[in-house]
Amino acid sequence: MTNDQSVPPGIDTRLPHSARMYDYWLGGSSNFAADRALGQAFEQAIPSIRTMARENRRFLGRAVRYMAGEAGIRQFLDIGTGVPAAGDTHSVTAIVAPDSRVVCVDNDPIVQAHAQAHAESLTTDDGTARTVYLKADLRRPDELLAAPALTAALDLDRPVGLLLVAVLMLVTDEDDPWAHVATLLDALPPGSHVAITHPSQDFNPSAMADVVRAAEQGRMTLVPRGRGQVERFFGDWEPVDPGIVPVMSWHPESEPPTDPNAAYYWAGVARKNP
Ligand SMILES: C[S@@+](CC[C@H](N)C(=O)[O-])C[C@H]1O[C@@H](n2cnc3c(N)ncnc32)[C@H](O)[C@@H]1O
Repeated sequence: MTNDQSVPPGIDTRLPHSARMYDYWLGGSSNFAADRALGQAFEQAIPSIRTMARENRRFLGRAVRYMAGEAGIRQFLDIGTGVPAAGDTHSVTAIVAPDSRVVCVDNDPIVQAHAQAHAESLTTDDGTARTVYLKADLRRPDELLAAPALTAALDLDRPVGLLLVAVLMLVTDEDDPWAHVATLLDALPPGSHVAITHPSQDFNPSAMADVVRAAEQGRMTLVPRGRGQVERFFGDWEPVDPGIVPVMSWHPESEPPTDPNAAYYWAGVARKNP
């Protein structure tokens, strides 16, 4: 499935979609003309948007490594997982904690189509599913949590690493993403961790306003949020040091970034205490 060659059922390629635009910025091939056109419009407003996408993906890797390492977590629930690609939750756990179970959730059928194409790499040698893909919607968290693919893979009595990375901006305020996230957090036991990134107007208000306008023209939902609104997603979970910070500043791997505000995402990880 490469650029415009074959289209899995259920996908309207005339409409741009966030999973495929993100794939385009990351240099992937699971995108179509409409995704590339809106992706380029976003890039005009924020010329560093590809760097932002890469930095967001790097944070995901650091957060998963933290959860698997310091927190000893072996079960991950990645909601808004995107098209399978290098540096995603499955590929990071495969290296740092191969005994992990990973449930990847997305509401875009192209994500499932890719997962089916790579089914072999998702199972262990004895055929046990290490990573499963589930088509479900963050806006229906009770349904998502009760899905047989999820309940078969995850033991919700043991700590879970929940990833909500670059997905909450795709849910409008009217859909109350805070309530949906609270339902997910309530369902997880103490010791669980949540990682969130969210694009924000706090870093460059006019560029973000231009992107929102481009999204509206492309009939796509995009809601940047201020730091206070992002903080509310974490509820009463305890922030892991250094709290909610610009995405490049969260546990940088080498030298601290020279301009941490260059990627317009807030990011943080928090833990549920008993
Ligand atoms: C920008 S991508 C982020 C991919 C990945 N989390 C990362 O940060 O590298 C956002 C993903 O969220 C998915 N998504 C959007 N709205 C969703 C919803 N309501 N429920 C589940 N997934 C959703 C999109 O299909 C897309 O794959």
